[in-house]
Amino acid sequence: MAAPRIDLYSDTHTKPTPAMRQAMAEAEVGDEQQFEDPTVNKLCAMVAELLGQEAAVFMPSGTMCNQIAFRVHCEPGDEIILDYTAHPINAESGGPSAVAMAQTRALHSDLGIFTADQVREAIRPTRRHSPRSRVVSIENTTNAGGGAIWPIEDIISVTTVARENGMAAHMDGARLMNAVVESGTSATEYGRQFDSLWLDLSKGLGCPVGGVLAGSDDFIDRAWRFKQQMGGAMRQAGIIAAAGVYALEHHVERLAEDHENARTFCRDIAQIPGIKLIFDRCQTNLVFFDVSETGMDAAEVAEKLLAYEVRIGAMGPHRMRAVTHLDVNRAQLTEAAEALRSVVA
Ligand SMILES: Cc1ncc(COP(=O)(O)O)c(C=O)c1O
Repeated sequence: MAAPRIDLYSDTHTKPTPAMRQAMAEAEVGDEQQFEDPTVNKLCAMVAELLGQEAAVFMPSGTMCNQIAFRVHCEPGDEIILDYTAHPINAESGGPSAVAMAQTRALHSDLGIFTADQVREAIRPTRRHSPRSRVVSIENTTNAGGGAIWPIEDIISVTTVARENGMAAHMDGARLMNAVVESGTSATEYGRQFDSLWLDLSKGLGCPVGGVLAGSDDFIDRAWRFKQQMGGAMRQAGIIAAAGVYALEHHVERLAEDHENARTFCRDIAQIPGIKLIFDRCQTNLVFFDVSETGMDAAEVAEKLLAYEVRIGAMGPHRMRAVTHLDVNRAQLTEAAEALRSVVA
């Protein structure tokens, strides 16, 4: 089945642009496992510098970045503190328990942005019976929190509590550059608060594949060992790393356009009878809405939208998510909002 013409399912559905493909075709390559791929090396150096860290490693996916980071930080039986909506808890096939052999402790917050007090309360006493609280992990922007941005002050409070308690601080930066562009807080400022963090290339940045995990030299050495062990070490990976270099040079500032488009889409659909926006504010590129008052469920609305060549994801019985990205323009979003109006009429 071909993808619908207006695909708002996810920013992971972006396709490499002709210029990105050109950069990929012309990439200098070598054996990545031997550190001989100049394009991968360039990408890793760029990301390490951008995130204020000593080193970085190129990974096939963001999921692998999270899981390997947890594997490095944890011993079996340790505990990772995250929001209950966090991707590693809900969408990584049980990775924390399977890969890091750690358990998760879920905090409940409105937008996926929990507080330092919540972390403090969740930290286990040091005793033989308790798991060891080992990592605090935050998501920036929050996915199920509607693309909300973690304010830097909140990050500093949470990571300070982590440090005071001998824990590592990790950031899932699947959409970190969206947070950077919208908040004006630099990636370096965000990055230096963490022991490990990563950014995804295959979401709003528009690459076909890949994430880059950053941390200290020692952390990255250890991450490399697990990457090798799990079969994530590559060969002439410069072909795909070149897309990442291109995206960091050309696709960051334009994320502001996606955010503006998402806000316009929010305003448009908020006028449709039966459609209720789930979050008060649309900060970045994710728009969540509820369709219960239309008398239809989300799967039905999603199915009917396909007849208009529009794809929007059903994220729960009545919850839907539309994501703006570089392959949808303002006119298409207006068309999608009109399609939604027709479907629910
Ligand atoms: C917040 C968050 N973290 C991690 C991931 C995993 O990234 P990947 O699809 O590159 O494995 C996603 C993907 O949707 C995500 O939204």
